[in-house]
Amino acid sequence: MKGTVIWLLLLLPLYFPGYPISSCMGNQIENLNRLIASRRSSNAPRPELWARLDDAGNSHDSPVYVGSQKGSMQADKIDKMPGQPEGVDFYHYAGYVSIDPVTDRALFYYFVESPVNSLNKPLVLWLNGGPGCSSFGYGAMQELGPFRVNSDGKTLYKNEYAWSNVANVLFLESPAGVGFSYSKNSSDYTVVGDKRTAEDSYVFLLSWLERFPQYKTRDLFITGESYAGHYVPQLASYILSRNKSTYRTIINLKGIAIGNAWIDDDICTKGLFDYLWTHALNSDETNEGINKYCNFASEDLVTKKADADTTTDQCNKYQSQGTTEMGDIDLYGIYAPICNLSAIKPGSDGNVLNFDPCSDTHVESYLNLATVQAALHAKATKWTGCSGVGWTDSPKSTLPEIRHLAKVIRVWIYSGDTDGRVPVTSSRYAIKTLQLPVETAWQSWYSESEVGGYVVGYNGVVFTTVRGAGHMVPSYQPARALTMITSFLQGKLPPGRPPS
Ligand SMILES: *[C@@H]1O[C@H](CO)[C@@H](O)[C@H](O)[C@H]1NC(C)=O
Ligand SMILES: *[C@@H]1O[C@H](CO)[C@@H](O)[C@H](O)[C@H]1NC(C)=O
Ligand SMILES: *[C@@H]1O[C@H](CO)[C@@H](O)[C@H](O)[C@H]1NC(C)=O
Repeated sequence: MKGTVIWLLLLLPLYFPGYPISSCMGNQIENLNRLIASRRSSNAPRPELWARLDDAGNSHDSPVYVGSQKGSMQADKIDKMPGQPEGVDFYHYAGYVSIDPVTDRALFYYFVESPVNSLNKPLVLWLNGGPGCSSFGYGAMQELGPFRVNSDGKTLYKNEYAWSNVANVLFLESPAGVGFSYSKNSSDYTVVGDKRTAEDSYVFLLSWLERFPQYKTRDLFITGESYAGHYVPQLASYILSRNKSTYRTIINLKGIAIGNAWIDDDICTKGLFDYLWTHALNSDETNEGINKYCNFASEDLVTKKADADTTTDQCNKYQSQGTTEMGDIDLYGIYAPICNLSAIKPGSDGNVLNFDPCSDTHVESYLNLATVQAALHAKATKWTGCSGVGWTDSPKSTLPEIRHLAKVIRVWIYSGDTDGRVPVTSSRYAIKTLQLPVETAWQSWYSESEVGGYVVGYNGVVFTTVRGAGHMVPSYQPARALTMITSFLQGKLPPGRPPS
């Protein structure tokens, strides 16, 4: 049973810091499960919290490698994607940016310009989570990019709700070892983590802006989902701290938006179990057991667990019971169908309005075609959606970064409300700890004449739900996701009820 497997991953010590994640199951959340499992099962001291970056930033006062980018932009232009639909009316680019020329470490990107008025539209960087999963294979090809892959694994169909309608969108596969991004130094695949990911992403951005100099002064927004609840606030904080250093290169960072974001281990886990019970997926007995025995409130779960073993065993028992009770559903969209490859009718075309639970498989087939890899200027490789990179550092919480960012740039936290993995309850509990005053009361917003979700404006943070969307929000609700992100980019709340 799929549900059971997922929960076993959550509960078993399958991953330890510095140990490669093996047998990846090609799902960004399963990598997250492994990481969390390691936290819950290991008595090892927690990794050092990543340097908090709201101070003077002196620790980052060193020059950054930026290689020559001459001619690279033209070279990266994509001529034609194999199997693309008619009417491709935009420019798109793909290629590598070198991060470290000595060991040869390079990150792969895919960039889509807006078909109309691209010069007047902002730059949006999108990051998927995992850790270790591909922003290209998930974000671009299954969520907010201009194309989706048909069930033949060879042809593409159009996503009319692509975020490139309102922005120029850059997808980055990071760190090295993920997707097409690589390193010639194989230890880079076993000792990476949050810190390396942020630093490399920063170097990437500087070089990329040299390659595409027309974007140097453009408003930049960083967005992402799931474990990008770490990547996005960390990269944003790093950019701001770097902006204070001697070697600063001004990046015009204006805001961040994170969806179904893993922000704090304890808070997210508590939110998850509360969601399962309130959505009728768990019994009263399980809920009571979890509330009684699981100590989510503790500042340091691992230390607490070490001297309270019985509590932990009981906690694990009830969590495990909750898993079994849930049955074989898609936890990432609790009302969505699950993938059955043998039920696919040959020759059937995809439609962005019909959520495709098997899109992982189609994308993996497509991105492994030699013609596709050549069209993308990628090195010939076996591409996988999520990779077995070993994660060494991951702070328990990114709330300190979020708290700081909320004072200086736009911060939106959004949540697809049918996701059970990093559910809306987790986001609400996390925001609650920030104790921000409400400035705009909870209200419904509209997309295509229906309620698209609910929004509440705090001082510094906007929280919005996307109604009927699972973990990968634009995959489940493309139109509502586009309305939401358009409002974010404009810096205003999503629209209210349309006049009747
Ligand atoms: C390879 O990577 C490891 C870990 O990042 C690093 O310690 C080592 O110096 C690197 N080797 C070379 C030759 O750069
Ligand atoms: C970066 O620093 C410059 C110069 O001090 C400042 O004008 C700009 O607002 C800063 N950018 C951000 C995003 O803080
Ligand atoms: C998958 O689809 C096939 C063909 O329609 C069907 O026979 C089979 O029972 C389905 N499997 C599951 C697990 O639903």
